[in-house]
Amino acid sequence: MSDSLPLLLRAARGESVERPPVWMMRQAGRYMKVYRELRDRHPSFRERSENPDLSYEISMQPFEAFKPDGVILFSDILTPLPGMGINFDIVESKGPLIQEPIRTIHQVNSLQDLEPEASMPFVGEVLNRLRESVKNQATVLGFVGAPWTLAAYVVEGKSSKNYAVIKAMAFQEPELLHKLLNHFAESIASYLRYQINSGAQVVQMFDSWAGQLSPTDYDTFAAPYQRKVIELVKQTHPNTPMILYISGSAGVLERMGQTGVDIVSLDWTVDIAEGIARLPKHVGVQGNVDPGLLFGTPDAIRERIIDTVKKAQERIHILNLGHGILPGTPEENARVFFETGKAVKELIGSGT
Ligand code: CP3
Repeated sequence: MSDSLPLLLRAARGESVERPPVWMMRQAGRYMKVYRELRDRHPSFRERSENPDLSYEISMQPFEAFKPDGVILFSDILTPLPGMGINFDIVESKGPLIQEPIRTIHQVNSLQDLEPEASMPFVGEVLNRLRESVKNQATVLGFVGAPWTLAAYVVEGKSSKNYAVIKAMAFQEPELLHKLLNHFAESIASYLRYQINSGAQVVQMFDSWAGQLSPTDYDTFAAPYQRKVIELVKQTHPNTPMILYISGSAGVLERMGQTGVDIVSLDWTVDIAEGIARLPKHVGVQGNVDPGLLFGTPDAIRERIIDTVKKAQERIHILNLGHGILPGTPEENARVFFETGKAVKELIGSGT
């Protein structure tokens, strides 16, 4: 019976629902005291995300604190890289570091095809345990990085301000970059299939840095590979809703709506009503609330959520932030976000 399915999954599939589901990108992490304490005991990010007991415990922290409608696997978009032969680490206050950035055809040709069951058994185990624990009280989400954003990390070697190294590759040796993007598209599709087979009910693809491309270059280097991942996954798992997120996406929104994705996750540089008008009717929306709002007063948070939900009423809508929750956000304000989201219909009904 479809009634027994969790709210977020039903909403993402386009069923009419009692209220918009709510979760937060990066809902597990540094703004939570329990996470910081666990991090002090286990300072290695790779350990926190690859030891199944720790990854499970961290994934559950926001669920235990706030009961959001979505529980996302605690992991990283870079987690599949070692399974392709690319080593990485995440260094406190510096971010991701790739030991040997990928810059040559020889390196691209030497990449391994990802075999997710073999290289990331911990992901399957954690997703399984999450499903068992949250049952139908929440939807379990899986996620991946999209080919362009993964390529940006492995070519640059770290987070970048202007993406000069990968753009030099794009405009000097495009075949080399296409080969890398294609490798990632195939591996990422098989990783998503593995996540879904292990229990993920909705999956999100982060192409966080595709907003750094001009629309023409987005059509060349980002969209075809997003589409390839989506098509491959839909071939085997047509009923699993897929969400696509890009940071700085206002210039490419229409294009995002053409990738085959079910739901577009908006950042906060576009008005949600205008964003909806720019997407086909069958495509839903997520996000849009400025993460910085959570540094404001509870009233300011409530008012913005109500405004956002009202503007999205006619569309499939998942309440979320426009990017990850920021470190330093007061936990009480995260609570206001979730609680307002869950009571939003009553709040709108009472004219608050
Ligand atoms: O949403 C969730 O709660 C799941 C956890 C999650 C993490 N990373 C954990 C993490 C998710 C969905 C990601 C995705 C991710 N990782 C993206 C796409 C989302 C986005 O923000 O655009 C990107 C670009 C990355 C790469 C990455 N990993 C960055 C830029 C950083 C931050 C570096 C820093 O120190 O600020 C990471 C590390 C990371 N991944 C942290 C967390 C909680 C912070 C490090 C820590 O907690 O020790």
